[in-house]
Amino acid sequence: MTRTLTRRPAPEALIVPPGAPTPGRIESRLPPRREGPAKLTGQAKYADDLVFPGAWYGATIRSSEPRARLLAIELDPGFDWSRVAVITAADIPGENVVSLIRDDQPILVPLNGEIQHQAEPICLLAAADRATLREARRRVRIRTEPLPAVFDPLASTREFARYEVKRGDMESGFAEADLVIEGTYRVGHQEQLYIENQAMIGVPREDGGITVHGSLQCPYYIHKAMKRALNLTDAQAVVIQAETGGGFGGKEEYPSMIALHAALLARKVGKPVRMIYDRHEDISATTKRHPAIVHHRSGVTRDGRLVAQEIEVVMDGGAYCTLTPVVLSRGTLHAGGPYRCPNVRIVGRAMATNTPPNGAFRGFGAPQTEFAAEMQVNRIAEALEISPLELRRRWVYREGDITPTGQVLRESVGGVDVLEAAAEASDFARHLEQTRAAREARNAGARRASGIGLALAWHGAGFTGSGEVHLASVASVELTGEGGIRILTASTEMGQGTKTIFPQLIASELGVEYGEVEIAPQDTSVVPDSGPTVASRTAMVVGGLLIKAARRLRRQVEEATRRPFREGYRQFAAEHGGLRVDEQFEPYPGVPFDDATYTGDAYPAFGWACAVAQVEVDLDTGEVAVNDVVSADDIGHAIHPIMAEGQVEGGTLQAVGYATIEEMKLVDGRYLNDRLSTYLIPTALDAPAFHSILVEKPFSGAPHGAKGVGELPMDVGAPAVVAAIHDATGVWIHDLPATPERILAALTGALPPPAPGFSAPKPEQGAA
Ligand code: MTE
Ligand code: MOS
Repeated sequence: MTRTLTRRPAPEALIVPPGAPTPGRIESRLPPRREGPAKLTGQAKYADDLVFPGAWYGATIRSSEPRARLLAIELDPGFDWSRVAVITAADIPGENVVSLIRDDQPILVPLNGEIQHQAEPICLLAAADRATLREARRRVRIRTEPLPAVFDPLASTREFARYEVKRGDMESGFAEADLVIEGTYRVGHQEQLYIENQAMIGVPREDGGITVHGSLQCPYYIHKAMKRALNLTDAQAVVIQAETGGGFGGKEEYPSMIALHAALLARKVGKPVRMIYDRHEDISATTKRHPAIVHHRSGVTRDGRLVAQEIEVVMDGGAYCTLTPVVLSRGTLHAGGPYRCPNVRIVGRAMATNTPPNGAFRGFGAPQTEFAAEMQVNRIAEALEISPLELRRRWVYREGDITPTGQVLRESVGGVDVLEAAAEASDFARHLEQTRAAREARNAGARRASGIGLALAWHGAGFTGSGEVHLASVASVELTGEGGIRILTASTEMGQGTKTIFPQLIASELGVEYGEVEIAPQDTSVVPDSGPTVASRTAMVVGGLLIKAARRLRRQVEEATRRPFREGYRQFAAEHGGLRVDEQFEPYPGVPFDDATYTGDAYPAFGWACAVAQVEVDLDTGEVAVNDVVSADDIGHAIHPIMAEGQVEGGTLQAVGYATIEEMKLVDGRYLNDRLSTYLIPTALDAPAFHSILVEKPFSGAPHGAKGVGELPMDVGAPAVVAAIHDATGVWIHDLPATPERILAALTGALPPPAPGFSAPKPEQGAA
């Protein structure tokens, strides 16, 4: 079934009318955002709004060198240190690791240990007031011995991860090709720039443990890290999410670091300690999107068939592993783009450099490699003199096709649907003809040129490979003794809609009103581990678990009361003292993914996206205005179409920034533009007109058919914009962002020719 939603529901649909809804059916009426009123009226409590009487203020002393040996931490003897708490690596009671995938990142660099990047935490300070803290910071001297540093991932010999995907036979594939096209594409760092900076408050507990309150995506990541570093039991380490002003992946791994710092200080001081970053500290020290260099070699036949794809991906992991293997894995699996090809070889490697660690950012490696894939397809279309739309029509996966990991795409394959929907709504083919005419006018001396560009992408739903099986998430629905209905998950709200769609799903499943369903706080002492809020998995995976739990709850209550749930549940609660149903993840149908051979079903289903961008380029300044973006997204069943459209618009705007202006400048491993005044992102004035088309091809493996929407739009925006820049100017920009400088250089022929294929040095045996 394919359903296309093209029009926004009328505003009155926002108001939930009274009357009993039908059980077992997802409501078409759209409830308002659950936490919206509190955010609008300023009543929502972000970490910095939380008041803890007597709390101290914490600060982090950081390295100023990209690589060095730490020789000494010197405290000025002329300063009264009795008023300040100081923590070094030696004060950590448990293991000095920020526990995540690999145990390589210390919480604080130990004496005689190696500093691996600028802004790495060396020691911690806390004081009762900010003035004392500020003075204390000035009285700490770090003595180091500089060591040689590596900034180029191609020159690095330390590998964090390596994956290889292979299908068919490359040699016969290239032998069949009439044309071999090569290209190298580069993308840089990108800062998440959530509206609320990172923040964490550590509060000592009576049981000897620590509770942290903060801005975060993944409560149980922090819980695990605290237990290891502070030698705490499950009950002694408590993590509570405060209202969170955006995450975009940036609050997946780094909050563990800050929580550990706040917890260590709180333990030492015996009082709450506040670690609230300002924007400068946040940008300079926390994770960014991984830069990547992607080389493509494609074999095509004269009649336009793709017969061989050889792809090499190198990601810059920064100084520590963090989530890099997961980002690389997704990037590698998506690197071929959503296109059928019998012979494929993709090698992905992530290398260590002496820059702050890179980490999760909306799309998790896929925007990097799919930008390259789309650029390559456009260049092939140009070489074959086939329209970029027509070529994609021929190549895009359809039901029954097989991906490079050998996965058969059985259902919910909306690639061609989104392509046609976006092409039609934007009148792509006709515009393309018109801009050809515009190009002639430009050659005749016009100083502004407009263009149109199209991009297509797929995005695996949920955690990659065996990830969901390993997570084994648990989500619960509870009928409380007082007759309340409560959802228990660790899934966080960060603006994307968790707190609205969960009660929406459960109200519909139980046949009660949206307002009757409550949500338990994201507090590890209350809710089960429903896994991290990442990989756009919340709606599909956790939402699916909740529906199953609600179904069981309804059945039990209805069997006991012999009445519909909504009529009998209060009485049932009074008589039985409530009932809680836990639902644990069970694998989706399909072929399990084999981590050793990188074969099998990499994802239970894929989301599909197409974007068509229209731009205007100032040929004198190289400045780009993105005026209009039509997006078509197959997200499976759309639970809340208005918020889903919001996700598409937000993701697209982040992609527009990625494509045009967002650039981290580095010198010696330090970000030069680590402030809001110098790291530019699109504002409302830079936002194009958005047209969002939701294409619904439900996924039968999830009880509600949802596949997730959060990251998908991030994959297509940038390649669509760069294709439009090419359409307007005739030049290809191979490296993101397509800044005015790059565009002018390309227009005047000053841009160096595209780099040939590369081959990085082989990793050292046994290197970290
Ligand atoms: N939307 C808002 N408003 N704020 C965010 O922080 N994060 C994005 C996306 N959309 C984000 C957002 C990222 S990186 C992911 S993985 C998904 O939301 C996570 O939420 P989901 O699992 O509910 O889709
Ligand atoms: Mo998203 S990058 O998986 O938080």
